[in-house]
Amino acid sequence: MQLKNKVAIVTGAKQGIGLGIALALAKAGCHVAVCDVDLAGCKKAAEKIKKLKVKSLAVACDVSKKADVDNLISQTIKKFGRLDILVNNAGIYPFVPFAKMTQADWDKVQDVNLKGAFLCSQAAVKKMKAGGKIVNISSIASLIGFEGLVHYCASKSGINGMTRALALELASKKINVNAVAPGAIETPGATVTMTKDAKQGTIAAIPWGRMGTPDDIAQACVFLTSDKSDYITGQVLVVDGGWILR
Ligand SMILES: NC(=O)c1ccc[n+]([C@@H]2O[C@H](COP(=O)([O-])OP(=O)(O)OC[C@H]3O[C@@H](n4cnc5c(N)ncnc54)[C@H](O)[C@@H]3O)[C@@H](O)[C@H]2O)c1
Repeated sequence: MQLKNKVAIVTGAKQGIGLGIALALAKAGCHVAVCDVDLAGCKKAAEKIKKLKVKSLAVACDVSKKADVDNLISQTIKKFGRLDILVNNAGIYPFVPFAKMTQADWDKVQDVNLKGAFLCSQAAVKKMKAGGKIVNISSIASLIGFEGLVHYCASKSGINGMTRALALELASKKINVNAVAPGAIETPGATVTMTKDAKQGTIAAIPWGRMGTPDDIAQACVFLTSDKSDYITGQVLVVDGGWILR
């Protein structure tokens, strides 16, 4: 699927799913602005993208801070002169039992996962024209419960609600807003604390018989950011190897 000369921003893109999305968009011909809290990581990702014969930009940005987000959008416009695609991928999922969850734990997760998508979308939409695409990275945790992730499940259900309402508001501007809800994906964030047993238990629960890869999610994003999906808006596409079908 060609996305030749489109300009995309992917948040939280120095590693994991975000990096996978940035690389897949670049392979499809997109110029990509990579943002993350870690500038050195962004620069490494931007170098990988450049090798795919498209332009790239690395911008340090904490998506929960409006000033950072405004800077991300203005740097992108300054470098590329346009913005066609926003993928709101930056997210955190710290496990905390509900009884021990502090207000600070709750606020941090909502700030990054939900407010971050709001701030980035609002700033991006001001620059997008008809044909613009927003993809929010949700989670199957928006649809089913996970112990220790009450704040996270709430934030991702919020993403689904935001996706539907924003899709409605932006339909007349011909900007699509959709979400991708990954299942268990092998990324630095997801596997850093995973024991071998936990991994085997997760795989046993997945009908497809393996964890997902960042590219499994990225290919759904390539589809949802291409003109092949122009008539799809406000939807949550589950990409989980069938995990939540049981
Ligand atoms: N890996 C999974 O199994 C899985 C499943 C469902 C949904 N997701 C979602 O996919 C997205 C990516 O997850 P991942 O597994 O690749 O995570 P990861 O931890 O490997 O990568 C996340 C990236 O986001 C960046 N980030 C964190 N806070 C940020 C902020 N405030 N501003 C900008 N960047 C920030 C991190 O530095 C990191 O590079 C998240 O939204 C996550 O909730 C992941």
